Parts: sequence; structure tokens; C-alpha cells
Amino acid sequence: MLVLGIETSCDETAAALVSDGAILSNVIASQVDLHARFGGVVPEVAARKHVEVIGYVVKEAVDSAGKTLGDIEAVAVTSKYGLIGCLLVGVAAAKSLAYTLDVPLVGVHHIEGHIFANALSHPRLPMPHVCLTVSGGHTMLVLVKDKCKYEVLGNTLDDAAGEAFDKIAKFLGLGFPGGPTIDRLSAQGDRAAFNFSRSLSKSKRLDFSFSGLKTAVVNMFKDKDKALLPVPDIAASFQEAVVDHLVSKTLQGAARKGVSAIAVTGGVAMNSRLRQVFSEAGRREGYQVLFTRPELCGDNAAMVAAAGTARLAYGDVAGLDLSATPGVPLESVA
Ligand code: KG4
Ligand code: ZN
Repeated sequence: MLVLGIETSCDETAAALVSDGAILSNVIASQVDLHARFGGVVPEVAARKHVEVIGYVVKEAVDSAGKTLGDIEAVAVTSKYGLIGCLLVGVAAAKSLAYTLDVPLVGVHHIEGHIFANALSHPRLPMPHVCLTVSGGHTMLVLVKDKCKYEVLGNTLDDAAGEAFDKIAKFLGLGFPGGPTIDRLSAQGDRAAFNFSRSLSKSKRLDFSFSGLKTAVVNMFKDKDKALLPVPDIAASFQEAVVDHLVSKTLQGAARKGVSAIAVTGGVAMNSRLRQVFSEAGRREGYQVLFTRPELCGDNAAMVAAAGTARLAYGDVAGLDLSATPGVPLESVA
């Protein structure tokens, strides 16, 4: 089934054509440069940009796949979880297309989209498995029992991991988004230079917390001359604390649920140290660790089309009254 996916939940305007697990096109118009001067995503600016470019992005997705609008058999759109003004743009576009083309419409939860980026990356993804989905907007540990069957094991109690990367990068004057820069600078730094405390390390909860770590970094250096700070050492030590927290909670979750495979996805899943530590832990403790392909880690519409295809197979078809809902828990769509 040829499915058009549309994703506008945050600052990427994306459209893709996916046919039964094969990605025919995957177009992403990133707004990163637009938001860089603000040091983070400004919701209304993002929504206005989506309105401007969504038509071109859909056209590019169709054209670059070598298809026509008439070939599309269903439209899938991120309708849940994200910035409300941004979601509304994608939902309105998807509804117009589904109505005009007379094809089924399906609403997808953004986190479910990220989970399906794993399935696109690894066609033989073992079920059940534990999935860590970690980005600028969320940090969630999910037991994926089967396609579209989820149990949320843990969630962030405050900031998302990517948000913490971005805030520390801003504090260090490294620009936005901060994750890739901190990742790169950490390679030249000493990750044992500063021992930042790990949140919830003694707790049995599978939740995450990053605001204490962020405050610890800021408090340690806020009165110092920024020009003299050992930035690579701070970056490497901060990154180590984040990675440690993410990996240890994920391993705890995998052990508790008795699974043998762990999947890692979302923008922060591109982090090189996270990949290294997860791979080493997997080898040491006997887990198969699967990372989403880098080009599918960040927000994209191929993952939305893949999730929509699975939901349609369960008969989940949305009406033309589909609306955007920003704060829906993942369990509610399982
Ligand atoms: O999935 P994504 O594109 O958008 C959201 O849903 O948020 O993730 C963006 C986040 C940003 O916070 C960015 O700093 C972070 O992913 N990120 C990274 C890396 N690449 C992107 N964080 C750490 N290391 C990286 N290499
Ligand atoms: Zn995302």
C-alpha cells in the first residue's frame, strides 16, 4: 500500500511516500536555521513556516518518488503529541488530500512514529523489545509488545534529554541545536573531568530526569569567565552523565521485562557516545541493541507513513473530523 506520511509536530516540515516498508521518498524541510537565533523552537514561528512550505514539501515527496497524487492509497499524519499550532497545519493538509483523493486517513502519535523508525531501519525487529525514544521533545522508555501494542515503562519527569543538551550548549555559547556540537566537542574532552550526579540512580523507577544535572552544570560554572571554561571537558562530562542515565534505565527496563532486544531512536539516538556505550553494554549483558538509521532518527514523515500503514492494517481509519491533540499519552493509542 502506497502511503503518504506528513509530519509537522515541531520544527521539521516533512512528507514521505512509503510502500510496505520501502521508503520511496523522504523530504524534510528543516527550520533549524530559523530558530537558531532564538536558541530554541518558537512554536508560532514554526507553525507559520509549516503553512508556507507544506505544499512544496508534499509535492517534492510525490515527484521525487516518481509517483503522482493519484497513486497514493492512504494519508497518514502526526495528529497527536507535539506543538498544537504545528500539528494543526499537518492535519489540515492531510485531511484535504485524503478527501480530495478519496483515500483513507489515519492519525499517528508522534512517539509511535519514532518507534516505527526502528521497524523501517530493521525489517526483522524482534518482538517484544524495549525501545528508548529520546529527542528534544521527549524521553520515553516503552515496551513494544507487538506492532501498535505498547506499555510505557518510563518518561522524563522534567526536561527531555535533547532539551538538556540544547540548554547546556546555550549556556556554553555553542548555538542551537546543541546535541551535535556537544557530541563533537566531547571527543576532545575528558569525560571524567567533572563528576556530575546521576538522577534517580538509586530509584527503581524507570523514569528520567535531567533538570538537576542541568542545574548542577550551570551552578558549577555560572560565575566563571566563559572564555576560560574547559568547554570540551564540561561537554564530555555532561554527555557522560546523560548517556549513563539513559543506558542504565533502559537496561533496568529490559531486565525487568525479560526482553532480549533494545531499540534506540529519536534525535539524541545519533549521539556517538550513546551508541558506543549501548553497544558495549549490549555485548556485555547479552542484549541485541538496534539503532535507528541516522537519517530516520530525527523527525521525518517516513516513520509516520510506516506507523500509519500498521494502524490501517488494524482498521484504524480517521474521519474528516480528525483534530490535533498535543498531550495524548502513548498508551491511549496502543
Ligand atoms: O527527534 P528530533 O529531530 O526532534 C524532536 O522530536 O525533538 O531531535 C532533536 C534533538 C535536539 O535536542 C538535538 O540537540 C538532539 O536531538 N540531537 C543530539 C544529537 N543530534 C541531535 N543530541 C545529542 N547528540 C547528537 N549527536
Ligand atoms: Zn520527535
